[in-house]
Amino acid sequence: MSIFLDSSRLAEIEKYHRMGIIRGVTTNPTIMLKDGVTGGMKGIAERSKGIARMIHPLPVSVEVISNHPEEMIAQAETFASWADNINVKITIHGPNGELDNLEAIHKLETVHDIRINVTAMMSAQQCFLAAMAGATYVSVFGGRVNNMGYDACSEIRKTRKVLDQSRLDSRIIVGSTREVLNVIQWIEAGAHIVTVTPNLLEGMIVHPYSKDTVQMFLRDGAEIAAMIADDRKDT
Ligand code: E4P
Repeated sequence: MSIFLDSSRLAEIEKYHRMGIIRGVTTNPTIMLKDGVTGGMKGIAERSKGIARMIHPLPVSVEVISNHPEEMIAQAETFASWADNINVKITIHGPNGELDNLEAIHKLETVHDIRINVTAMMSAQQCFLAAMAGATYVSVFGGRVNNMGYDACSEIRKTRKVLDQSRLDSRIIVGSTREVLNVIQWIEAGAHIVTVTPNLLEGMIVHPYSKDTVQMFLRDGAEIAAMIADDRKDT
């Protein structure tokens, strides 16, 4: 079980990577845009290579920006050529339910030997088929599932069960994390990986009562230090 960081900001990635608490990074075009990546494909290349270099050999997912089969394959090849720890995100289907994506995913994994993260999935049945197609990662958007009134935990449990029973090796990533409590909840439900935003990661670490306790230790430590200084003066 592990945690990925859902971000393309180099400073944030470096901060949490140095703590040793993340095992990979996930991005998508929306995250890159929000994080100020400009300059089209050149900008995506620079940022992706920067992340890949920083966290190597941990994986970083970079998403294609087209839904045309030949373009998805060409972009996947380009992204994978930037670094050996870059894997490629492709959505489960097109914007109107077009079915070309699974064929491209299967081809990329089996013929091109490129690691694919199948993304934007909301159900166990989608994850099962993506895993059958050979996806290295299957990404369920837990927060969006819950927002639609369905239970993300139930989809995660079913996905894990069906993958284990079918001896499929795909790793389940649960993303679209909205609350701190989702992380342990989704890992408990069977996610191999939960991908979290930096603010949620900070929320997992910092606890108000831990703050109080640390303040008490430091107050009392300062008192002891003052006593030691007094003792030194007297001798
Ligand atoms: C996962 O890999 C995605 O990048 C991400 O978690 C999407 O979440 P959203 O619902 O906040 O867009």
